[in-house]
Amino acid sequence: MSMNTPLTDLLGCRYPIIQTAMGWVADANLVAATSNAGGFGFLAGAVMTLEEIEQGIAAIKAKTDAPFGVNFHMYVPFAEDIVDLCVAQRVKAVSYSRSPSSQSVEKLKRAGIVCIPTVGAKKHAVKAVEMGADALVIQGSEGGGHTGSVATTVLLPEVRRAVSVPLAAAGGFRDGAGLIAARALGADGIAMGTRFLLTQESPVPGQTKAVYIDTAPENIVVSTRLDGLPQRMIANQYLADLMHASNAGLLARAIKNGIGFTRMTGGSLSGMLGSAWKMYRSGNTTLGQTIMAANAPMMIQEAMVNGHPSEGILPSGQVAGVIDDLPAVADLIERIMREADDTLRALSSHSV
Ligand SMILES: Cc1cc2nc3c(=O)[nH]c(=O)nc-3n(C[C@H](O)[C@H](O)[C@H](O)COP(=O)(O)O)c2cc1C
Repeated sequence: MSMNTPLTDLLGCRYPIIQTAMGWVADANLVAATSNAGGFGFLAGAVMTLEEIEQGIAAIKAKTDAPFGVNFHMYVPFAEDIVDLCVAQRVKAVSYSRSPSSQSVEKLKRAGIVCIPTVGAKKHAVKAVEMGADALVIQGSEGGGHTGSVATTVLLPEVRRAVSVPLAAAGGFRDGAGLIAARALGADGIAMGTRFLLTQESPVPGQTKAVYIDTAPENIVVSTRLDGLPQRMIANQYLADLMHASNAGLLARAIKNGIGFTRMTGGSLSGMLGSAWKMYRSGNTTLGQTIMAANAPMMIQEAMVNGHPSEGILPSGQVAGVIDDLPAVADLIERIMREADDTLRALSSHSV
């Protein structure tokens, strides 16, 4: 089945299915597998050094000629360098959750790169389009990682009425029925994180994937404890300990992890604080929250890379609670398109 939409036209992919960026998860292999299968993959640049992003792009290009994108955070000190890299490498699209500077967006657009940020509220959708976004990923509160408070079914039609750019619906999607439902609500495709995390090609260690598969939807909760911003994750003992930690304990953890993260990304503590200040000045977060943000990547890494699911944070969409298999990416995408076709047929024959 083919399904051309304004989103597939814009991104140059066969199917309206985006594999979103996930720190530590959306590596070159997963991105290439997605784009080769007709979807559109995003490399998780937000937890990488500039060199790692460059190597990631090269590794993807070695595995596929299909288009793909790069995700990054504007608050890393080398955000402008990432923009230049994407332009030099003729990456098809970039995604971000806070807009980079207007000069950067202009530079990207002049180079013909599709700017497709993720937003979780109508006002952010309108602002992102004003700042030059060509399309949007609209993430409802069911979604994994940082997430808003409005459910996909409410947010999506609300944003559809407010902006005219192509939209990908995110938060809670895993199958073809979801794709059809998203389209009926005004989206031009779907964007999925958790579903792609639970595939053969996802680099997450088996014991960590098993925890996702075994979790019920009601145990996938939103907490602000990690970095001050609402984030959806699996409610494990590690999160329970964080909830009960004293402020002094949290600060000590923030400093330790902040130093670890700056070492890992090749930055300095003063650089990180400078970036936190920039982010604080440009956004709606408090300075405390932005400094705490340095916590998150290290705590997530322990579970997602080192394979210790009970000693770290497991960001997850609620949809993990209803996923019970680990398909290969190509099989998953093919299955979703077949299910979408079946759903349309069943609907038109009034048999559901
Ligand atoms: C493990 C994990 C890591 C994530 N890391 C990032 C990230 O680095 N950058 C980003 O923009 N979004 C990140 N997200 C959010 C996803 O890109 C996506 O928007 C979300 O998972 C969609 O909801 P779903 O999980 O219900 O499909 C992450 C989500 C998960 C589950």
